[in-house]
Amino acid sequence: MKPNLLIVEDDESMLFTLQDVFQNEGKNVAYALDGKSAMEEFFKNEPDLVLLDIRLPDTNGLSLLKRMKEADPELLVIVMTAYPEVQTAIQAMKSGAYDYINKPFELDEMRLVVQKALETYHLKDEVKRLRRQEETTTSPKKILGQSPATEQLIKLIQMVAEAPRTPVLLSGESGTGKELAANAIHHHSARAKSALVKVNCSALPEHLLEDELFGHERGAFTDAKEAKKGLFEMADGGTLFLDEIGEMSSTLQPKLLRILEGEPFRRVGGSREIQTDVRIIAATNRDLYGMVGKGEFRADLYYRLKVMEIKMPSLRERRDDIPMLVNHFIQVHSREMGKPAKEVTPEALQLLTDYPWPGNIREVRNVMERAVILANGQPIQKKDLPLELCRAAVDEHFKERGAMMPLDLSLEDLERQYILSTVKRTNGNKTLAAKKLGISRSTLIEKLKRYNKQNIQ
Ligand SMILES: Nc1ncnc2c1ncn2[C@@H]1O[C@H](COP(=O)(O)OP(=O)(O)OP(=O)(O)O)[C@@H](O)[C@H]1O
Ligand SMILES: [Mg+2]
Repeated sequence: MKPNLLIVEDDESMLFTLQDVFQNEGKNVAYALDGKSAMEEFFKNEPDLVLLDIRLPDTNGLSLLKRMKEADPELLVIVMTAYPEVQTAIQAMKSGAYDYINKPFELDEMRLVVQKALETYHLKDEVKRLRRQEETTTSPKKILGQSPATEQLIKLIQMVAEAPRTPVLLSGESGTGKELAANAIHHHSARAKSALVKVNCSALPEHLLEDELFGHERGAFTDAKEAKKGLFEMADGGTLFLDEIGEMSSTLQPKLLRILEGEPFRRVGGSREIQTDVRIIAATNRDLYGMVGKGEFRADLYYRLKVMEIKMPSLRERRDDIPMLVNHFIQVHSREMGKPAKEVTPEALQLLTDYPWPGNIREVRNVMERAVILANGQPIQKKDLPLELCRAAVDEHFKERGAMMPLDLSLEDLERQYILSTVKRTNGNKTLAAKKLGISRSTLIEKLKRYNKQNIQ
């Protein structure tokens, strides 16, 4: 988008010279010859930068400056003053002007001041964008894994990155790395230098999401005291990541479809058509196709997004990656805690590789964070892993032997079943069973006695 300039100057020849100069540089230029029309143009055009003369026929430029800064605190204003008015220039700076220039000035001097101001403006935008990104980005940036499924995923991401206009749909279970993939696509594409803006469609009620995405004009609703840019405008030239697209309301879905088809949009309460160049990456952990069948998601939008769908494999489909991910997260969390990174014991690694990981890679990260804390600088052992993992192993053990495993076992029940099955497996050899269970023989005997009593009761 071109930067918008507003020139407020009552000297017509000066005004039109400036207008010429900046229009030739490709900027959108609006102008006003007095204070009243200056405010009208200001609200109509929402300039990024205002060149403001101090002496105007109907008002003082300083009071205009204050009103404009009130409406848009981030507005950049360059004040033009006649030479003897140093005092005014100082006052203008105090009221929030970005810079001032003394009349008469060379056009080159003016060009330079404007250029500097616009650079500041873009930097501010960039800082805002980075902050936003920092809040939502998950580290690390690299997609780890060497399993065939992951290798194929990485290849696909590279291919998609190279087609910088194609919308992308990332589907897959929770924690499979959809957001990480979106980051990778953006950063490997020709759009990398522009913004990657993220929004979660389930985090906001419909009207707020619409306001976030498309922005609003001043006065669009009661609280809209200032106009606001939407995320589509903030992401211009870059990428917009729409997380949990399945939660987008049925009124917003057609609006998104129109944008995907290259049409311009309007801010809420606005009439101006805005065209942006944004690549959409949508993500979902829901079955969109099923939702289409139930009338919960628009078929046309689904088919538009589906053109480039990347199905994120679950961790169960890339078990070979588990050891690498485990070690990676041990390193990450050890570093965070200022502890040396240690290995996992072979038994613990066995449990980790056997576990079905319903929460996928995010679950690995969480489990390893906890384990690093519990291990307290020592190698990670079974005892540092959460019970679910051991329980899953027991489940597996019973399944292998064709035994039924009732759901919702208490910890005590689980322990009893496990102990009894181990004793059975060792043909009643209590010494061997105790050894396998990692408890003393006397503890085992005591426990068996208790179970016997319970059975009799
Ligand atoms: N292949 C990978 N290599 C390294 N880290 C990964 C990988 N995949 C995912 N992660 C990490 O796992 C965590 C979860 O990933 P991410 O947030 O991208 O998942 P998601 O699919 O968006 O999940 P959800 O649907 O719950 O939002 C993040 O910390 C991410 O960095
Ligand atoms: Mg996510």
